[in-house]
Amino acid sequence: MTAASTSFSTSDAPSAGVPIDDLALPHVARLHAYTPGLQPDEPGWIKLNTNECPYPPSPRAAEAVRRELGADGASLRLYPSPASAALREAIAAHHGHGLRAENVCVGNGSDDVLNLLVRAFCSPEAALSFTVPSYSLYPVLVAIQDGRAEEIGFERTMRLPVEKIAASPARAFILTSPNAPTGVAFGRAEIERVLAAWHGLLVVDEAYAPFAREDAVPLLARYPNLVVTRTLSKAHALAGIRVGYALAHPATIAILDRVRDSYNVSRLSQAAALAAIGDTAYYDGIIAKIKRTRDRHLALFGQGSNEACKMENEACRNTPGAAAPHYPLSIHHSSSAGETGAFGWFTYPSQANFIFTEPRDARGKTGPAVAAAAYEHLRANKILVRYFPGHPLTASFLRISVGTDAEMAAVHQSLQAWQTNA
Ligand SMILES: Cc1ncc(COP(=O)(O)O)c(C=O)c1O
Repeated sequence: MTAASTSFSTSDAPSAGVPIDDLALPHVARLHAYTPGLQPDEPGWIKLNTNECPYPPSPRAAEAVRRELGADGASLRLYPSPASAALREAIAAHHGHGLRAENVCVGNGSDDVLNLLVRAFCSPEAALSFTVPSYSLYPVLVAIQDGRAEEIGFERTMRLPVEKIAASPARAFILTSPNAPTGVAFGRAEIERVLAAWHGLLVVDEAYAPFAREDAVPLLARYPNLVVTRTLSKAHALAGIRVGYALAHPATIAILDRVRDSYNVSRLSQAAALAAIGDTAYYDGIIAKIKRTRDRHLALFGQGSNEACKMENEACRNTPGAAAPHYPLSIHHSSSAGETGAFGWFTYPSQANFIFTEPRDARGKTGPAVAAAAYEHLRANKILVRYFPGHPLTASFLRISVGTDAEMAAVHQSLQAWQTNA
C-alpha cells in the first residue's frame, strides 16, 4: 500500500492501551526537551533570536562543499573521516599554544561535544554543575543522562561565584564565557582562580569567545583538567553545517572519543569547516564589524544607565589589558544608521554577539510584563529576538543578537515606537 492510496497516518492511530510512556525509561518519559529559538519558514523576518552571524561564511567554505560534492555527488557514497582527522589538525594549528590534533575532538555542533562531556562525566552519582542563568541546554543534557545537576546561581551583578564553585562536590563544571544570555565574560585571570581552587573537570563553553577580549585557550597547556568548547555556528557563520569542537588534554579527548558516534560529522561539514578555519583574514573582518555594531548599540541601549556603567568599568578594572569601557560618560553619536537617541536601559556589558537589555516603558517601569510587551511588539513587526521568562534574572530582559547595521537600526526604531506608546 502506498502512502498516496490511504488517508491513514500513524499519528491518527489510537495510542490508548499501548503504554509508550511506561515503556520509555522513567527519566526520559519525564523529560522536557530543550526549546530552541524559533526558526520561521516564511521570509521577511529580521531574525535576531539565535545569535547567528548576519554575514555569509567565508566564500571558501561554500566552494569546499561544492568541490566535495563534485559533479555527481559520488563522494557521498563513502563515510566521512571518523575522527574528522584533517579538521582536528587544522583546528589545533589555528589555535596554536602548542595544541596538536590529539588535543581536539570535533562534534556535530558544540551541542554534540557538550553532550559527549555529560555522557562521559555525569551520572545519578556524579553531579555536573553549571551557573544559572546560562545556556539552558545543560540541564536538559543532564536530564537525558538521568544525571545529577548542581546549579550555582548568579546574582544580578553576574560576578563569577568562585568560592561557590570551589566548594562544589561536582565532578565537572560548565562555565559559559562569555555567558549566555547576558554576554558577560570572565577574564582569564578569573578562570585561573577557579582552576587553582577546584580540581574537577572545568569546561569553559566559549561559543562566543571570538567576540571577547580574552579566552581560556592559553591555559590548556598548564591545566589538564580544563576543557574549552568552541563552535563554528556563531562567528564563523556556519550554524547550518553543525560543527563544534573541544580542546583539552589528550586523556580527556580519548574519553570523549570513546563515547562519540563513529561518524559524527558529515563529509560536507568537515569540508566546509576545514576551509573556514583556514580563512582567518575573512573572519577577522566580520568579527570586527560585528563588534563595532555591538559596541555602538550597547552604548545606545545602555547610555545613561549608571548600573551598567559601573559594571563595565569594574569589568575593565578586573581584566588586565582590557580595552576602554563601553560606556563613556558622554557619547557623541551620529545617527547615520537611522537611530535617534539612547534608551538608557540597564544593559549588561556584552562581549558576545548579542545584547541583553532591560526594556523600560514610557513611565520608566521595568519587569517581566514590560519585557514581554516589548518582545511582542517586535514580533508583531516581524523582528524576532529572544525572551527568557523562566528565571527572575532574565524575565525582565530581551536578548537581541547583533545583526547588520540596518537590522539593528530597525530594532532601535521599533523599540522607540513601542516605548513612546507603551
Ligand atoms: C553558550 C552556547 N554554547 C553552545 C551553543 C551551541 O552551539 P552549536 O550550534 O555549536 O551546537 C550555543 C548555541 O546557541 C550557546 O549559546
